[in-house]
Amino acid sequence: QSWKPLAGRRALVTSGPTHEPIDPVRLIANRSSGKQGHAIARALAELGAEVTLVSGPVTLPPPIGVTTVAVETAREMLAACQRVQMAETAPLDIAVFAAAVADWGVDGSAPQKLKKTPGAPPPAIHLVPNPDILATIAQSATLRPALVVGFAAETEQVIDHARAKLARKGCDWICANDVSPASGTFGGDSNTIHLVHHEGVESWPTLDKTAVARRLADRIATRFSPVTA
Ligand code: C5P
Repeated sequence: QSWKPLAGRRALVTSGPTHEPIDPVRLIANRSSGKQGHAIARALAELGAEVTLVSGPVTLPPPIGVTTVAVETAREMLAACQRVQMAETAPLDIAVFAAAVADWGVDGSAPQKLKKTPGAPPPAIHLVPNPDILATIAQSATLRPALVVGFAAETEQVIDHARAKLARKGCDWICANDVSPASGTFGGDSNTIHLVHHEGVESWPTLDKTAVARRLADRIATRFSPVTA
């Protein structure tokens, strides 16, 4: 079977954490592995899409068949996404934001390693809000991708919170992930996804992250070539 449903479609995927430097050797990070975002990039490529993956620091290898751009901070991630968005005159078809972007960066990170001075108090770290990459791309005036997908990790009222996020960020779909302790998925290899969009909610069974990626890619393919049965 050589026909691929996303052939000719261009996709942007973000993945992994961001690192926010405090000084040249210290940073604020989070525990995102990048597994889900990388799997999505690969699954879209397997369906024929031309995929650019913008990834924060991860230990995973770059997925096969995907153009990977490595970044460190949230600001770099936004700049890289905007470069992908503006690389051609036509808007992207698909953008999936799976990265765990740090909400705050360090205001004026130090150019030299902060030194311990005996008796001196510890340095204060001032945080400043990072740009919301998903919202920025979803609300771009002329180059908004045709389908913008975000993620939401919630511990309660998963679907209500996802609906609110859909509206606030201006995206088309939210993959809401139940990460309550009872779900047992936090930090694990599987995800329980509710796909929330303007027409309703599709609740998926608990699947491993590769299967979530394949199912999402299939769902995206259906969106671009709807089955008319
Ligand atoms: O607001 P919250 O962080 O819960 O939103 C999660 C979604 O927004 C994810 O899709 C994430 O990749 C995206 N996001 C982003 N830039 C941020 C914060 C979140 O792209 N600064």
